[in-house]
Amino acid sequence: MKKLLVFMMAALMLVALAVTGCGGEEKKAAEAPEKVLRVATEPTFAPFEFQEEGSDKLSGFDMDLIRAIGAKMGYKVEIANMGFDALIPALNTGNIDVAIAGMSITDERKQAVGMSDPYYTSGLIVMVQKDNNDIKSIEDLKGKRIAAQIGTTGAAKAHSVEGAVVTEFNTNTESAMELTNGGVDAVINDSPVIGYYLAQGGSEVAKTVGDVMEAEQYGIAVKKDNTKLLEDINKALAELKKDGEYDKIYKTWFGEVKK
Ligand code: ARG
Repeated sequence: MKKLLVFMMAALMLVALAVTGCGGEEKKAAEAPEKVLRVATEPTFAPFEFQEEGSDKLSGFDMDLIRAIGAKMGYKVEIANMGFDALIPALNTGNIDVAIAGMSITDERKQAVGMSDPYYTSGLIVMVQKDNNDIKSIEDLKGKRIAAQIGTTGAAKAHSVEGAVVTEFNTNTESAMELTNGGVDAVINDSPVIGYYLAQGGSEVAKTVGDVMEAEQYGIAVKKDNTKLLEDINKALAELKKDGEYDKIYKTWFGEVKK
């Protein structure tokens, strides 16, 4: 009988220990390093992502958006800088968790990675030298020299132009420079990015021609099978849209709230 009592007391103590053990674990969680969301972008794409002059700080609409998404998910957000064509491989080798880079959701990319719900509607446009009066739309680019950024929808569009000689540059800065220098006849890139470039002084040397082409939706990319992260990102994005923070960020970079 006495033995049984001792046994029961020991069992009770074990239960008590297990209960307080939970508290101990909570403490451990608090001491554990912060969860880090490893993000990458290609920052020659203002106003979505760009490097502030004289600093390595990455700014722009996408940067604010992913920082807000990370904060909602309880992550510390670290943003690295890499070539646009390196983003999808980096996701799939696990070197990064997330790519946000004004990346248009295409069928091809949906095969390669997980793409979030759309967060911005864009479209391609043609830019030529300011005094060029021969090229009035993409129709006039047949057989011409076109620059675009490597691995982009703009580059794909350029390759679809009959007889065009396409040069794919690592950065959009180089494409724009090549146009200014007369090395190419046109650049194809996303309309809001070209619009920003022209507004920031590019209109001294360049202009757009023709209409914005078919709509493209930007999405945030994760590794193909990382459905949990994708769900969390979509949830955070929906919350930001609902609580007005998305609109606030939108207004910072585009001056008005999207209808
Ligand atoms: N929207 C285009 C695409 O998905 C261009 C994106 C380029 N982004 C960048 N950060 N350089 O191909």
